[in-house]
Amino acid sequence: MESEPLLNIADYARAARGKLSSDVCDYFDGGALDEITLRENTAGWERLKLHYRVLAGVGARDLSTTVLGQPVSMPIAVAPTAFHKLACDEGEVATARAAKAAGTLFVLSSLSNTAMEHVFAEAASPRWFQLYIYKDRQVTQELVRRAEAAGAEAIVLTVDAPGLGTRERDTRNRFRLRDGLAVENLAPLGKGQMPEVAGSGLAAYVRENFKADLGFDDLDWLCESTRLPVVVKGVCRGDDARRAAEHGAKALVVSNHGGRQLDTAPSTCEVLPHVVDAAGDLCEIYVDGGIRRGSDVLKAIALGARAVLVGRPVLWGLCVAGEQGAMSVLAILRRELDEAMLLCGCTKLSDIGRWLLAP
Ligand code: FNR
Ligand code: LAC
Repeated sequence: MESEPLLNIADYARAARGKLSSDVCDYFDGGALDEITLRENTAGWERLKLHYRVLAGVGARDLSTTVLGQPVSMPIAVAPTAFHKLACDEGEVATARAAKAAGTLFVLSSLSNTAMEHVFAEAASPRWFQLYIYKDRQVTQELVRRAEAAGAEAIVLTVDAPGLGTRERDTRNRFRLRDGLAVENLAPLGKGQMPEVAGSGLAAYVRENFKADLGFDDLDWLCESTRLPVVVKGVCRGDDARRAAEHGAKALVVSNHGGRQLDTAPSTCEVLPHVVDAAGDLCEIYVDGGIRRGSDVLKAIALGARAVLVGRPVLWGLCVAGEQGAMSVLAILRRELDEAMLLCGCTKLSDIGRWLLAP
């Protein structure tokens, strides 16, 4: 029997759930505690209504923009997510190739199942490296040095994970990497495996290795230690945003880590305008969390984001059909954004503004 065509991101989510083992599915899909922020992220975009303009004479749409001065074909980027070999055999190489085919930004997680040198060799520009600060400064320093040498063009410092938010699904499943898989970037540094403990192996790994007392001094240290621009990911408040920019961040990602860290944190669409108002004059601002339709992207841009990042949708694409699946997911979002722009009366991204969200 012919299988149903996969028309949208929700179709990919369902198809991925049909293919994955339940522990991997729970790891990808799950959030912290009661998963309230996880649900609010998607619900927040859904609740915003588009007050579209008519008779605007929209011709062919132009979705292109730049991130930190680097051209991208659309304002939709691949968020850093861990462990892509849980999704497909080619892992992060498949993801990098999909982003390249889409002409968009690819952000590689520190916690990849493929060494960064191998992934960046397959990735086009722009390609950025996401960093977690390890307790051992030399480990962090070595990751930054290798990222620079491997061709990363920015460092994305994730600041919302001084510890891992409790994901009860992972605790119950005793989530860990299966045999043969490792945290490849850290393997040469002796930190490639998760501890054998009760509960989530990832939570134990983070407790053992990530710097818990993360502060603005760490951001200062990073900005001094690298020639690459630093992007701060995980900001949700205007005051933090302004301070991060004043401490050297060239861009910020408004993010609550896809609802995986502090539960009952507000949805990202709720806090985005405050961050834009506080720091939009100092640096570029992107947003992630719950983006599932092209119209969500348009709403994010209306609220002042320069671009969005997508996490789970890309993972679902990888699960369903590897590189092709991730490409299809990005193509769906592009097509939906293009249609939403046409129907809203916007020819280019700079036509999209807050006016669209109010009568
Ligand atoms: C993540 N995220 C994440 N962020 C980060 O900075 N480093 C990482 O290694 C990971 N790993 C990771 C794994 C999985 C399975 C998920 C779902 C998420 C967070 C990610 O970058 C992004 O903020 C969210 O995924 C955005 O929300 P959506 O698009 O998944 O709703
Ligand atoms: C996660 C970590 C790895 O969200 O960022 O699972």
